[in-house]
Amino acid sequence: MKDIELITTNCKGYVSDAELKAVAKPIKLVHQELISKKCPGNDFIGWLDLPSRIPATLISDIQATAKKIRDNCDVFIVLGIGGSYLGAKAAIDFLKPNFFNELSSEKPKIYFAGQNLSADYLHDMLQVVKDKRVIINVISKSGTTTETAVVFRVLKQYLEKLYGKNNIKDKIIATTDAVKGSLRKLAESEGYKTFIIPDDVGGRFSVLTPVGLLPIAAAGINIRELISGAKDFETKCNVLDIKKNPAYKYAGIRHILYKKGKKIEMLSGFHPNLHFVGEWWKQLFGESEGKDGKGIFPAACEFTTDLHSLGQIIQDGERNIFETFLVVEKSMAKINVPKLKEDIDGLNYLAGKDLDYVNYKAYEATASAHYEGKVPNMMISIPKRSAFNLGQLFYFFEKTTAISGLLSGVNPFDQPGVEAYKKKMFKLLGKPGI
Ligand code: PA5
Repeated sequence: MKDIELITTNCKGYVSDAELKAVAKPIKLVHQELISKKCPGNDFIGWLDLPSRIPATLISDIQATAKKIRDNCDVFIVLGIGGSYLGAKAAIDFLKPNFFNELSSEKPKIYFAGQNLSADYLHDMLQVVKDKRVIINVISKSGTTTETAVVFRVLKQYLEKLYGKNNIKDKIIATTDAVKGSLRKLAESEGYKTFIIPDDVGGRFSVLTPVGLLPIAAAGINIRELISGAKDFETKCNVLDIKKNPAYKYAGIRHILYKKGKKIEMLSGFHPNLHFVGEWWKQLFGESEGKDGKGIFPAACEFTTDLHSLGQIIQDGERNIFETFLVVEKSMAKINVPKLKEDIDGLNYLAGKDLDYVNYKAYEATASAHYEGKVPNMMISIPKRSAFNLGQLFYFFEKTTAISGLLSGVNPFDQPGVEAYKKKMFKLLGKPGI
């Protein structure tokens, strides 16, 4: 199996070998701090060796539960927000066919909720799932997140009306803390099947815990392959040599570019299936690095679509951006441009070429144009839309974000800033005790 690969050619002129050599020194220091568990936030680094120590019994339990879900429902609803939803959504969208919920061969249909407070979203989803056999996986580490808890209350009542109060316990699975939080309390009093989110793994690093693994397995994806990709990169991203460790090279280059005024990183994928990988990545980097008045602003684009909108500001706007492209080398499908007798649209010069070829040329052209427009860029080549490559990518980004945060002197594992809106919202809502 081919590995994902980091290509940095288009950083020439922005990041020199000497600068990379220099940044390797502080990287070595933070690497030691991280692996000896002496870094800031060291009680949240359970993700570091998670791929190599996920218990076999847990994987079997997840797979058996996923089978029950697949055998017993038409619709599987995943409730969660932030780290309790983005990893599963990213994996499912990356690995399943586009429009899979519309394909009659696909069961169960999978929907996500509890990631917003929109009455219309919830109402419309309930219209879609009406008359269908539903199983819900409610996911919340704290067990108290308002968005998820409010939507769960609505869906629980919906199930109770449909099946009767005492007949829904086998239709709800809760993924939460081992002991704390109201979701744990509720799950125990109602007798739901539960999965535990480890104490030492924060939300945005939790895709390889039951938070991500259960919904991903319920979608029919091989989670062993995903874990094995992550395990492979757990080893490859632990090497000290910055030239051989793609995560350390990526972290080093980001750090150098940031110091030179490149304050925004645009993650630009050339496949719509990467959209939620971008959303997951934004949370991972934004919550980990953005604090104490510091941090690269993580933005994501979908190319070639956004070349017809944001492409303008990337090419020509303020020169404070660098870019990281995500390129899938081989699509699952092969579609050739047809040859026409009458070449009215003038496309016969592409006849017989497949869309991957055209898409790759679009990437090459974009990378070159943006580089010439003073946007240094890197590329992560993803051989295919496989669980193995996605596991590598998840771990690569997790390791980079940890090293990047530590390099810039912040605690990459907390998120004090997300509390500010909550406090104000609770006050406005009149929550008792606030
Ligand atoms: O990264 C984080 O910790 C947060 O974004 C959480 O994932 C998010 O707020 C959801 O929290 P919880 O799982 O406690 O409901």
